[in-house]
Amino acid sequence: MKRSVIDTTDLSLAEVQQLLDTSLDIIADPAKYAHVCEGKKLATLFFEPSTRTRMSFEAAMYELGGNVISMTDAGTSSAAKGETVADTAKVVSNYVDIIAQRHPKAGAALVAARNASIPVINAGDGGHCHPTQTFADLLTIYREYGKMDGLTIGFCGDLLYGRTVHSLMAAMARYQGIRFVLISPEELKVPRHLIEDVATPAGIPCEETTSLEEALPKLDVLYMTRIQKERFDDPAQYERLKGVYVLDAEKMKLAKPDCIVMHPLPRVDEIAVEVDDDPRARYFEQTLNGKYMRMALILKLLGYGDGGALSLSKRSLSQNPAEQDPSLTCEGGPFSLWAKAEEDPAYRCANPKCICASERAIRHKYYIAKDGGRRCVYCEQ
Ligand code: NCD
Repeated sequence: MKRSVIDTTDLSLAEVQQLLDTSLDIIADPAKYAHVCEGKKLATLFFEPSTRTRMSFEAAMYELGGNVISMTDAGTSSAAKGETVADTAKVVSNYVDIIAQRHPKAGAALVAARNASIPVINAGDGGHCHPTQTFADLLTIYREYGKMDGLTIGFCGDLLYGRTVHSLMAAMARYQGIRFVLISPEELKVPRHLIEDVATPAGIPCEETTSLEEALPKLDVLYMTRIQKERFDDPAQYERLKGVYVLDAEKMKLAKPDCIVMHPLPRVDEIAVEVDDDPRARYFEQTLNGKYMRMALILKLLGYGDGGALSLSKRSLSQNPAEQDPSLTCEGGPFSLWAKAEEDPAYRCANPKCICASERAIRHKYYIAKDGGRRCVYCEQ
């Protein structure tokens, strides 16, 4: 049975550590991995623009000795004729061994994973999750500090629509002694479910502020983000909010000497180019770390390894009970929400940015959140 990843929390903490260890091993000895995926194919299905994520997935598969089939423009695929995400996933499963999919609607990755017969990796689903960026982020932090525990991480910018923020918060919340400082304009505060269902139950202090200057001296990691223009319903609101935070050399004087600056990229104007020369800037390293973590993830989902750095002996998925068990979900991950989802003819997801709004055949399902409310299993809103 296959295993898919909608968010990093679909893997256990031990499995995330396994990916980190494998990535470090790939960095130390790339030749060892150069032929492991010979004869395997990855499909990159990108219904939304991308540079880093798609190219690093493709580079990752090539560096493992595998091949890639790419769909880079939804306009040239059958999506333009009205084919659903579910049907596309079923069809593409016949051609390749693993899928990486990016889509503008929240929940699209879960729909693909539920319908594909092969592993699906979420390469970004609307404003919801972006786990492989988070894997890149985790490796960057780990290479810097040798641990995640005890770090104070500041997220700055568009925390409402920034899917990289949502996935990194959920991932970091599983470590000990973490503190979050959430720096955003009022209109772009982090979705409440991340505070109520993720940070608070984990006992993580969340300080919300509008001031980057005030937050900076406290941080071990500053995670800057772009205001997500494409997710705004009202272009005037974007115009009002763009450029609200600009990190420059002057502001960097407020940061600790060892505070690293991260950004998933692309940047617009939120980090001045002069900061690139600051020894604390890590955003270009992040892009390289993303390739290593995607290599490690592809190996894992294709069935290599079972502890520590992944073993390269070829094993079929059916011999690995952990990979076979469809109930192997991690508490808090999107698949665990799916496992407890309920249906009620009266329930409809009201989020226009959810896959439920654009694909009619989807059965709306909800789970009961910690506050007792109903949340859509696809978009968590
Ligand atoms: C991010 C994304 O697509 O969410 N980019 C990326 O994959 N590195 C961040 C963004 O677009 O702002």
